[in-house]
Amino acid sequence: MNQNENDFGLIGLGVMGRNFILNVADHGFSASGLDLDPEKVDALKKEAKGKSVIGTTKIEEFIASLKPPRVIMMLVPAGKPVDNVIEDLLSLVDKGDIIIDGGNSHFDDTDRRFDYLSSKGIQFMGIGVSGGSKGARFGPSMMPGGDENVYHRVQPIFEAVSAKVNGEPCVTFLGPKSAGNYVKMIHNGIEYALMQLISETYDFLKRGALLSNAEIKDVFSSWNQGRLASFLVEITAEIFEKKDDLGTGLLIDAILDKAKQKGTGKWTSQHAMDLGIPIPSIDIAVAMRGLSSFKEERVEAGAAYGKHDGQINMTKQEAIACAEAGLYFSYIISYAQGLSLLAAASSEKGYGLNIADIAKIWRGGCIIRAALLEKIRKTFADQKDLKNLILSADFVSELLSTEVLMRKFVIGGIEAGITAPAHTVCLSYYDSYKSPRLPTNLIQAQRDNFGSHTYERVDKSGIFHTEW
Ligand code: 6PG
Repeated sequence: MNQNENDFGLIGLGVMGRNFILNVADHGFSASGLDLDPEKVDALKKEAKGKSVIGTTKIEEFIASLKPPRVIMMLVPAGKPVDNVIEDLLSLVDKGDIIIDGGNSHFDDTDRRFDYLSSKGIQFMGIGVSGGSKGARFGPSMMPGGDENVYHRVQPIFEAVSAKVNGEPCVTFLGPKSAGNYVKMIHNGIEYALMQLISETYDFLKRGALLSNAEIKDVFSSWNQGRLASFLVEITAEIFEKKDDLGTGLLIDAILDKAKQKGTGKWTSQHAMDLGIPIPSIDIAVAMRGLSSFKEERVEAGAAYGKHDGQINMTKQEAIACAEAGLYFSYIISYAQGLSLLAAASSEKGYGLNIADIAKIWRGGCIIRAALLEKIRKTFADQKDLKNLILSADFVSELLSTEVLMRKFVIGGIEAGITAPAHTVCLSYYDSYKSPRLPTNLIQAQRDNFGSHTYERVDKSGIFHTEW
């Protein structure tokens, strides 16, 4: 066992952890892995043969193998496990050592841990890591938050292992304390929205326009060559050709329509509500995962209301053109909403986020990587204080030029009874956001009528109340 030699320590040797440590070793850093499960340690040792990597189940051995000041990253499930590992480490680490949480931790937990560990002289960082197991192995996007000087100490490792776009690493220091976890949470919120939008688009093409799985595969493959080019569109094309090993036909048709969730989408919506920032595309994506889980009730309701044939009144070619424009439109609206929340949270929590930098590190490695992010990066680089992406001239023309097909897409689906709530909400957000006048004057009148809650007027300043 190496003593005080290794550059990097990783706790949690699940697939993500194992792949991350192999990635670190591939870039010339020596690394140690710790897991209480001997099978996971053995799996690491097997895969790391010939590399400068050790694996152990013993925390003392792990700590002794690391070069001080130590760099220790945890890739363990969010919540209690992170606190448990921190407690285990505390009696063994020294002042100046760096503990990094690379999981999807809640930002409040990260702030609490940051303060707790700072009080003990231990440096703590919360780093969002995106890209799944393949990303961890070959280049994730990473979103670090904490103390900037501490980040500079780990920067060479993270820049080396991260994904690259045009030679630029998909990692940069984002801001203090929980800034990195917060940005990762918003990434996941946008991920929820995009996944819901793609699944609704699939339904429109399959049930509405009667495309076969093979045709859907071709549609997504061709979209991935154009303005919709993105990781989620790319894997959707792959999914529509995967054979079912346990049955006949394609696997997609054998998968139960109940979507699970681990919480980051919900946290995004919860915090948006706290800040009063509308992000309805993400809210509806979370709600639809919830609704999908009521499978038995849906089956019962389906029987009660009778079968709907769901066919839309368009040719396949028209349907594909509308769906492409609709998905592009809704992609823009979803990024716009997520980024508007980021900007608001940045002021509220003092993160000092640079949205252009965030768009830049999302261009590669992460789940929401998309060609569109380069355009978004450029927009925020040119207009730092832009309040909402869809206020910028470039995106005004993008949305105006796709609006007609987007409306046809949503109307076609609604008429046929094909549920496309996220797309519908994206269109409603657009229509409401660009409307100088909303019917909320009536809400104010009602509030004042029943509860004397007062209102403001369009023609005079001040607060008014009427005896209705
Ligand atoms: C990523 C992902 C990842 C997330 C999964 C599952 O960026 O690599 O966001 O962090 O855990 O997507 O999330 P849900 O189980 O909530 O769908």
